[in-house]
Amino acid sequence: MNKTPIIAGLDIGTYATKFLVAKERPDERGFEVLGRGINLSEGVRKGVVSSKNKVSEKIAETIKQAEREAGREINEVYVNINGSHIFCINSKGLVSVSRADEKISGQDLERVIEAAKTFSLPSNKEIIEVIPQEYIVDDEGGIKEPLGLKGIRLEAKILAVGGFTPYIENTSEAVIGSGLTVGDIFLGSSASARAVLDSQEKELGAAVVDLGAATTSIAVFEEGEMVHTAVIPIGMQNVRNDIAIGLRVSIEAAEKILEEMGSHILGEATTRRKVVDVPGGDITFREKDLKDIAKARIEEIFELVDEELESIGRSGLLPAGIVLTGGGAKMEHLIDFVKEKTELPVRVGAPSEFYPSQEDPSLSVVCGLVKLGSDSFKGGGFMDFSFDGGLTKKVKKVLKIFMP
Ligand SMILES: Nc1ncnc2c1ncn2[C@@H]1O[C@H](COP(=O)(O)OP(=O)(O)OP(=O)(O)O)[C@@H](O)[C@H]1O
Ligand SMILES: [Mg+2]
Repeated sequence: MNKTPIIAGLDIGTYATKFLVAKERPDERGFEVLGRGINLSEGVRKGVVSSKNKVSEKIAETIKQAEREAGREINEVYVNINGSHIFCINSKGLVSVSRADEKISGQDLERVIEAAKTFSLPSNKEIIEVIPQEYIVDDEGGIKEPLGLKGIRLEAKILAVGGFTPYIENTSEAVIGSGLTVGDIFLGSSASARAVLDSQEKELGAAVVDLGAATTSIAVFEEGEMVHTAVIPIGMQNVRNDIAIGLRVSIEAAEKILEEMGSHILGEATTRRKVVDVPGGDITFREKDLKDIAKARIEEIFELVDEELESIGRSGLLPAGIVLTGGGAKMEHLIDFVKEKTELPVRVGAPSEFYPSQEDPSLSVVCGLVKLGSDSFKGGGFMDFSFDGGLTKKVKKVLKIFMP
């Protein structure tokens, strides 16, 4: 009998490290959360692991919480990679169909993807995910499932997503340093999208925007697949820093102000004076000043999001619009604010398959990682002929090198 695997996801965020142990419910009706650990991060800058030792310690601490709750030991995790070093490239490959009966085989698909992956990259950059966009069989384009079709020439168009190798290695070494094995590394925005976008949105055209502490990551989907991704190195911590500068208060005080008033920061501003009690005494400021400071920064973030959409000709043109997630998506009035800025339909997405009653968008990445891990366990779609084994093998190779 097939046993449902227990999957663990680890989101190394700039603000918080989140670890989740879960298991898919029978009949694919969501996931049962077995254990969870959340701690403030240390040693992460702009979404990138900057101090491996500090991150390893935090991961170890976070896992212990989840293990205690789950009542079991966890050995392997699916982990995310984030940061503005993430890039994506469109590429094409072409091969001749190999079988005498001209039917396209799994091997042909593997070969054509390999061919599409042969573009030059600097030696310190590597590909993390490969997303086939469409296949062309003897000039017949727009094919999504070419397996078994008859033809002579097979072309593939792919989106290759990659990053800066030293940062990717830092992430896996930090995980290994905490005593765990890396099952696979996925792009943070792939994980967010897996958690909050439904298949109809992906088909129609939608973008997931994950507003985190130090990064805002974007993934755009069309006809079911990711067509673009980017990470903007600005997030809610920039809002906090702007508050500190604008109101002339310490970072700690600005953090406290954001904690108390963050949810309402985009709402109607009055000229009322506000008093916030912070360590070292009360701070008084005009509500309007605070809101103006925050709005300017959030406006900038969504102008940059719109520029990313513009770069692929989709500004104002995504039928299923924008799905907001990440800790910043907890802000009230963000939906209206983003609607106005982007002229697109907007909603907030949270991982409801894991937490049906608790809408926490800051858990999207960690839940998405569990879903992606579960997908690769099931070996769905492309993994049937294991071209994705490339990365898994690579990660395992990294493990061998760095394991004592
Ligand atoms: N209700 C709220 N209103 C506004 N901001 C909030 C709210 N709750 C949390 N935040 C902010 O969200 C951020 C944390 O979000 P999240 O957990 O998604 O970040 P992260 O994943 O650690 O960061 P990153 O993805 O950039 O590495 C913090 O900066 C926090 O101040
Ligand atoms: Mg994040």
